[in-house]
Amino acid sequence: MSHITIQNLSAFYGDHHALRDITVEIPEKLITAIIGPSGCGKSTLLKCFNRLIDLTDGARVSGKIIVGNMDVLNGGTDVTDVRRRMGLLPQKPNPLPMSIYDNVAYGPRLHGVKEKKKLDEIVEKYLKIGGLWDEVRDRLKSPASKLSIGQQQRLCLARGLAVEPEIILCDEPTSALDPVSSQHIEQQLLKLKNDYTIVIVTHNIHQAMRLADYVIHLYLGELVEHGPANEVLENPKEERTRAYINGTFLADVKADQEINLKGNMCPYNFVYAKQALHALEKGKILKLIVDDPTAVTEVPRGMEAGGHEVVSVRQQNKTDWEIIIRKKS
Ligand SMILES: Nc1ncnc2c1ncn2[C@@H]1O[C@H](COP(=O)(O)OP(=O)(O)OP(=O)(O)O)[C@@H](O)[C@H]1O
Ligand SMILES: [Mg+2]
Repeated sequence: MSHITIQNLSAFYGDHHALRDITVEIPEKLITAIIGPSGCGKSTLLKCFNRLIDLTDGARVSGKIIVGNMDVLNGGTDVTDVRRRMGLLPQKPNPLPMSIYDNVAYGPRLHGVKEKKKLDEIVEKYLKIGGLWDEVRDRLKSPASKLSIGQQQRLCLARGLAVEPEIILCDEPTSALDPVSSQHIEQQLLKLKNDYTIVIVTHNIHQAMRLADYVIHLYLGELVEHGPANEVLENPKEERTRAYINGTFLADVKADQEINLKGNMCPYNFVYAKQALHALEKGKILKLIVDDPTAVTEVPRGMEAGGHEVVSVRQQNKTDWEIIIRKKS
C-alpha cells in the first residue's frame, strides 16, 4: 500500500529546476532507497516530503505530496504536524547540546509530557529501539557530545523516534560513520521497517542492496526508474540505471581520454569537454574531472542534449567529481 503519494512534483532553486515532474508512490512499512549521482535531487526530494525546503530562500515547489489524509504541500497544512509524522535522520549526527537523556526527552517534553516516570520510560524505550541503551544506560546524564559519532547517530535516531513519527527519512545516514557504526544503523533500520515506512537516500549501491525493498533512481532531477529493489538493482529496464549501477561497481571505467578540469568554472568545463569530444572518434570514452558543483549537473545535461551518452557521474572525494561520457556514434 502507498504511504507517500507524489504527483507531478517539481522543485526549483531560483531558476534551477532541481526536480522534474516526479510521480511515484512510496510503499508503507518497507524501505525505499533513493539512488542517483551527486546533485540529482535526492536530498531535495526528502526536503519536499517534510517541507524542510520551505527554509531555503528562493526555493519553489509544485505538485502534490499526500501522506494518508494529509496534503503536505498545501499552505493550510501545519508544518509541525508534517515534521512530527516524518522524522529526519541527517547525514551528520546533530545531537542537541544537552545530555543523552534530554536529547531523547526533548520532543516528548515539547509535546507536553512532563511526568518524570513517563519520560524515563520513553527515554529507555527509544534508546533501546535506537540500539544504544546498553551502551549508555549508566551515563544518561552525560553530554551527548561525548558519544562517538556512530553512537550520536543512533541517539539521533532515538530522538527522532521518540516523537512517534510514521515515516523515517534518512539522508545518507551512514556516510559520516565507520563501517561498524554503519552496520549498527543498518541493522536498526531493518528492524524498524516492521513499524515504520523508511526512505533512505544513499550513494552506496551495496547499501541499497542490503536494505531496500523498493528503489527510486533519480538522474538530473528526473525519475528514471522505480520498482522493487531486486528488479531495479539487478535487472534495470533503463539504460541510465544500468549505467549508474555499473559505474558505481566498476572501480574505473577505462577512458580513451581523461582531462582534468579542476579549478575551472562550469562554462569553461563545458567548452573544454566539447573540444575534447570533438577530437575523439565515435563511441570512444572521455573522462572529465571537475570540482565546480554546477558542472556536475550542467555538463552531463549539456552532453546528453548533444546526443552523447553519460555513462556515469561519480563523486571521487569531497571536492572532485568524475564524469564519464561516450561520444555519440
Ligand atoms: N539551497 C540551494 N540553492 C541552490 N541550488 C541548490 C540548493 N540545494 C541544492 N541545490 C541544487 O539542486 C540540485 C539537487 O541538489 P540535491 O542536494 O537535492 O542533490 P543530491 O542528489 O542530494 O546530491 P548529493 O548526493 O551530493 O547529496 C543540485 O544541482 C544542487 O546544486
Ligand atoms: Mg544530498
